[in-house]
Amino acid sequence: MKSVIDLKNVGYSYQNKEEVLNGLSISIPEGKKIALLGANGAGKSTLMLLLNGVLKPNEGQLFYKGEPYNYKRKGLRALRQKVGVLFQEPDSQIIAPTVYEEVAFGLSNLDFDKETVRKKTDAVLECFYLTDIQYKNPHHLSVGQKKRVCFASVLAMAPDVIVADEPTSGLDHPYAQQMFKEFDFLNAQGKTIIISTHDMNHAYEWADYVIVLHKGKVWQCGSADEVFANEAALKEAGLPQPLLLQLAKYLGLKEMPRDVESFKQLIH
Ligand SMILES: Nc1ncnc2c1ncn2[C@@H]1O[C@H](COP(=O)(O)OP(=O)(O)OP(=O)(O)O)[C@@H](O)[C@H]1O
Ligand SMILES: [Mg+2]
Repeated sequence: MKSVIDLKNVGYSYQNKEEVLNGLSISIPEGKKIALLGANGAGKSTLMLLLNGVLKPNEGQLFYKGEPYNYKRKGLRALRQKVGVLFQEPDSQIIAPTVYEEVAFGLSNLDFDKETVRKKTDAVLECFYLTDIQYKNPHHLSVGQKKRVCFASVLAMAPDVIVADEPTSGLDHPYAQQMFKEFDFLNAQGKTIIISTHDMNHAYEWADYVIVLHKGKVWQCGSADEVFANEAALKEAGLPQPLLLQLAKYLGLKEMPRDVESFKQLIH
């Protein structure tokens, strides 16, 4: 499996306190839909911020397509065009005084002319139903609206790797569905999507590849079927097995259904 980002023996601690991540190594497979799992405080958000260079590891190294991360200004700028992160808290991401400027911000830092920035921004605003609120102050929006603004500003940059930290928390069902429709659309174009989530059921149904963090390390990784089959390892990491798997096991089904429809067919 070709990897897009590799982490080798990465260690990270905030303000030299106890290590949040230690000796963490993982190859992130390119072009996959990846779920990053772990209990509260396991280090999911920390890992995601390491992926686009917002945080720099205290130990070890990260590589983008084989090249070591370069933390100088130019290097970070190039990296963030490739790896876009949607933060867990939209307020930590929002910097501009209007929705329009927020979405245009990243683009205007690239080498596009004004007209191209305007066209690209308008297109993304429309795609996320944000045109009507483009002149509003993003800080005055609801959490769900703020998340959509942040998502739009990440996608405006057209990164190859999209990292989204609990992207649907605070979103109502239609917008959550729309966000995943967008992820799937981008993935079909070959982009790598990494989300963190506490929703095991959705991770099981959606992800091609699953990474579980525990004790500062990659506790488990592999296909969704492999990782979720190991109930004991999940339990130790403080995670439940997806409901469909629990039901399928209880009913003694031979195949493990990945979604409700296949479950219905199996029990027919
Ligand atoms: N800015 C910070 N300063 C100091 N410690 C921090 C900071 N951010 C996170 N931590 C600590 O790092 C550890 C990992 O936190 P992190 O936010 O990465 O976990 P998480 O897996 O994303 O959790 P959650 O599921 O609650 O979002 C926690 O012990 C947390 O207290
Ligand atoms: Mg987090």
